[in-house]
Amino acid sequence: MTTAERYRAFAVREARGQSPAYEALALTVSADQRLLGLLDELPKEKRQPNLLFAAAQYLAAPVTAPDEFRAWMVRHWPKLSATMLRRRTQTNEPARCAAMLPVLARLPQPLALLEVGASAGLCLYPDAYRYRYGDGAAVLGPADSEVRLTCAVSGDVPLPESTPAVVWRAGLDLDPLDVADDDDVRWLDALIWPEQQQRRDRLHAAVRVARADPPHLVRGDLLTDLPALAARAPADATLVVFHSAVLAYVPPDTRTAFVELVRTLPGHWISNEGTGVLPGLMPAAVVDADGPAMFVLALDGRPVALTGPHGQEIRWLIPHTVSV
Ligand SMILES: C[S@@+](CC[C@H](N)C(=O)[O-])C[C@H]1O[C@@H](n2cnc3c(N)ncnc32)[C@H](O)[C@@H]1O
Repeated sequence: MTTAERYRAFAVREARGQSPAYEALALTVSADQRLLGLLDELPKEKRQPNLLFAAAQYLAAPVTAPDEFRAWMVRHWPKLSATMLRRRTQTNEPARCAAMLPVLARLPQPLALLEVGASAGLCLYPDAYRYRYGDGAAVLGPADSEVRLTCAVSGDVPLPESTPAVVWRAGLDLDPLDVADDDDVRWLDALIWPEQQQRRDRLHAAVRVARADPPHLVRGDLLTDLPALAARAPADATLVVFHSAVLAYVPPDTRTAFVELVRTLPGHWISNEGTGVLPGLMPAAVVDADGPAMFVLALDGRPVALTGPHGQEIRWLIPHTVSV
């Protein structure tokens, strides 16, 4: 796929209906040879629309005015490209905890949580957020939590009655972000699309939660460094290795090797990834190719639900009487 095709596909398939600003910017970039030429100076994995636009927001570019943006991008290319080379797409969405909670709550408690691809670790606090499922069919979590998550449900979702008991939490990431570092938090903020103020507010609320009890994050790779971190989990808790929106960033053979590795670890494994990312985990029949993008939530390699990419929805796939 050329860079022009990549930006056009992003505009039409990802930004349309979600972000008018990014749709317009991506179409502008896709039709502009000068801008495409600049992007093509970068390594292929650094040409992503999300990375360009996050770096632009981070540098206070006029992202809602495509004509001005074009001139801005040409003029500020040295610092823009330097930011793209230094940073990664590391969007950290605490609301994904709402999608994973029904599975976490049913595992033998207490839990030792190990998140692979943790970014700043905001998904490591499922016990600190307040949840509302469906039309209030289940409401749980600390009543005074600043992070309030709502999640639509369909199918036979086993609604949790209480949040899990977490006795240990740790994260692994190629480049962990530090919730105590204002510049890292500014990068997390820049990764959120311009119109999504609610997500921005949620991010900052979750950062405040994490700052009160910072997560233990280890710099490392999901293949080479996972066993050593897993070995540090307390033996008297259920180890849960989980990942969400991570495996799309690694090549298919690494995904396969990761699945083989994670199956050798004790405890349980929760995967929450885009429908095409681990094809072995998803019966093609339940994926609506024309519908909105969804993630597959799987426990120990068995799909249990489709989930909204930002944790906003759960469609349970199996009878909840089937034990997880
Ligand atoms: C899109 S973020 C998702 C963060 C978090 N899991 C969430 O759902 O909010 C993906 C994260 O995976 C990390 N990552 C990508 N490849 C990795 C690898 N090979 N080993 C460890 N972490 C990796 C990135 O650095 C990034 O922080």
